[in-house]
Amino acid sequence: MSSNFVKGLEGLVVAQTALSRVEGQMGRLTYRGYAIHDLARQATFEEIAYLFWQGELPTRAQLDDLKMQLAHARMVPPNVMQLARQLPKEADPSDALRTLVSALGAGKPLQKPDLSEAMMLTAQVPVLLAAFHRARTGAEFIPPRGDLDHTANYLYMLSGEMPTPAQSKALNVYLILLADHGLNASTFAARVIASTLTDLYACITGALGALKGPLHGGAPSRVIEMIEKIGTKENADAWMREAFARKERLMGFGHRMYKAEDPRAEILRELARETADPALFDLAFNVEATALRLLHESKPAERIYTNVEFYSAVILHSVGLPKDMFTPTFAVSRMVGYTAHILEQLADNRIMRPDAEYIGPAPRVVKKIEDR
Ligand code: ACO
Repeated sequence: MSSNFVKGLEGLVVAQTALSRVEGQMGRLTYRGYAIHDLARQATFEEIAYLFWQGELPTRAQLDDLKMQLAHARMVPPNVMQLARQLPKEADPSDALRTLVSALGAGKPLQKPDLSEAMMLTAQVPVLLAAFHRARTGAEFIPPRGDLDHTANYLYMLSGEMPTPAQSKALNVYLILLADHGLNASTFAARVIASTLTDLYACITGALGALKGPLHGGAPSRVIEMIEKIGTKENADAWMREAFARKERLMGFGHRMYKAEDPRAEILRELARETADPALFDLAFNVEATALRLLHESKPAERIYTNVEFYSAVILHSVGLPKDMFTPTFAVSRMVGYTAHILEQLADNRIMRPDAEYIGPAPRVVKKIEDR
């Protein structure tokens, strides 16, 4: 029997989207037609959220209105705040966030996801994360501040201190760059779940489960660990050759879509050059160069480049986030993409139900248990 089985669904088109376009051969990424470089330079995270949710960049009045709505939507129900304080302190923040998003949906009637719920959940994800992070470190919860934007408020709630303009700028650019990326694994998961007409909390809970895997959004904490283990630029070559010998993958390199440099990596590299501790940047830059040399040497046919996660790790470290907060901070950004994709899926829905090629035994007879 012939089949169209494609391992990893590579190259299969299973949805249409007007949200983001990944042109991997050219290393190009656009959001609703706008080049990511231009958006990173000129926009704020809230403008990107508006662009994805409403289709156009906002006017000043529309932006002010969205910021006000997001600020008002930050109030998390008391039972979920309590749960954030009760979760085991050693829980991975990605798991805590997934649990808290699921808890937000518990007790709500099954409702078709809509824009106001999308905004509410996007506004509350940073609050949930900050609540868990403060509780696990034995610190008091810091309530959100309505006068701060999404980025500054998140950093403020985590540390209790006002971020510097450089920290806010760096995280704002990071959040813009990570907001959406075609049909990546977690967004695909969100769309599959949405296609069953379940609620928004179920869709996002599933997406967050997919996001934390090391082949996807779980990579950046491992990038920092790798850089720390390597320690000096002189050690990079030997360390990586040993990693190859153990058949390990180098985190922060390779991408299913990009066969040229990921444009987000390029922007984040320059941002890291401006923002990060110069010694860390210098080490990361040398580790990157060594990794690319060795990857091209060992897999010349694969065209492996730096992916978004490599310098994301450097940026997130530089704005003061602990390693285990890197992946859930990715989720703070990707909430916009997830919710926009879910709404897009529902605007023209058909349940996603692909097929599997059966490769098990041919039909056979069930023997009585004594005869097996
Ligand atoms: N280190 C070492 N080898 C690699 C790497 C890497 N980072 N990336 C790909 N390869 C090798 C693979 O071992 C494979 O070789 P093989 O066939 O001899 O085993 C070949 O290149 C092709 O790899 P695939 O896994 O088939 O490529 P795919 O497109 O499916 O995977 C992926 C892309 C998962 C991102 C991969 O490059 C990887 O594992 N990278 C490291 C993890 C990482 O950085 N993840 C973050 C991705 S970005 C994001 O999700 C936001």
